[in-house]
Amino acid sequence: MQSLPPGYRALVLGASGALGSALAAQLRDDPRCATVLALGRSSTPAVDFNAPATLDEAAHSLATHGPWNLVLVATGMLHGPTGMPEKRLAGLRAEHMAASFAVNTIGPALALAHFAPQLAQGERSVVAVLSAKVGSIGDNHLGGWYSYRASKAALNMVVKTAAIELARTHPQAVVAALHPGTVDSALSAPFRGTKIWRPARDAAHDLLAVIDGLQPQDSGGFWAYDGQRLPW
Ligand SMILES: NC(=O)c1ccc[n+]([C@@H]2O[C@H](COP(=O)([O-])OP(=O)(O)OC[C@H]3O[C@@H](n4cnc5c(N)ncnc54)[C@H](OP(=O)(O)O)[C@@H]3O)[C@@H](O)[C@H]2O)c1
Repeated sequence: MQSLPPGYRALVLGASGALGSALAAQLRDDPRCATVLALGRSSTPAVDFNAPATLDEAAHSLATHGPWNLVLVATGMLHGPTGMPEKRLAGLRAEHMAASFAVNTIGPALALAHFAPQLAQGERSVVAVLSAKVGSIGDNHLGGWYSYRASKAALNMVVKTAAIELARTHPQAVVAALHPGTVDSALSAPFRGTKIWRPARDAAHDLLAVIDGLQPQDSGGFWAYDGQRLPW
């Protein structure tokens, strides 16, 4: 990451996932990176968005490991015990919608709240949150997947709003929502075969290149893995 200061410190949330683990591995291979802390539901400290107190505990115990130049939020949920993505309105279930918002919107928002105060001051820092192109309202031509789309659209609003706030205290910071493309992972596994799939390591490489190129004036934007700016 040439744009970050030498000896930069990185924090990855969702590091047990396909993209989170690939991102953490590539940061560990970067000789300019001094520290990569990779957190997940099974790490120490653990971060579980269904137990928001874990964010308080993690942020408290990591305060001395920062300040962070790079915070990557690579968590996400498309399907799980509460169900599969809805094909139509009749498939909406409150439990699945609430679970999607807990993991895709509220958890990342609380992560921003807890780790923004630990961002580096007076030098470059980037907070990149994995969103999804299907969370774009302007790009929604197919319908379906109500809970996932709505929770990612709400996440995008959180990212944009946090970018405005952080610009006041951290003028060199970039806060961005990123779309990784269609990537082979547990999240996408039930839908395999409909699109071109890429290994997570290729997507992680592209995402880090996009992050490397973002400037403070880009903060609050929504970007795809190929550098294309996406509509809200
Ligand atoms: N794969 C794609 O094609 C694709 C496309 C567009 C956007 N994305 C986005 O990319 C991001 C990463 O997805 P992925 O493909 O790497 O999926 P993945 O391999 O399933 O990883 C999902 C990650 O989210 C974590 N997570 C799930 N529920 C959580 C909770 N309650 N608290 C904390 N962490 C939780 C998982 O932790 P556990 O290991 O503990 O479950 C895992 O680390 C997501 O935001 C996803 O929406 C992916």
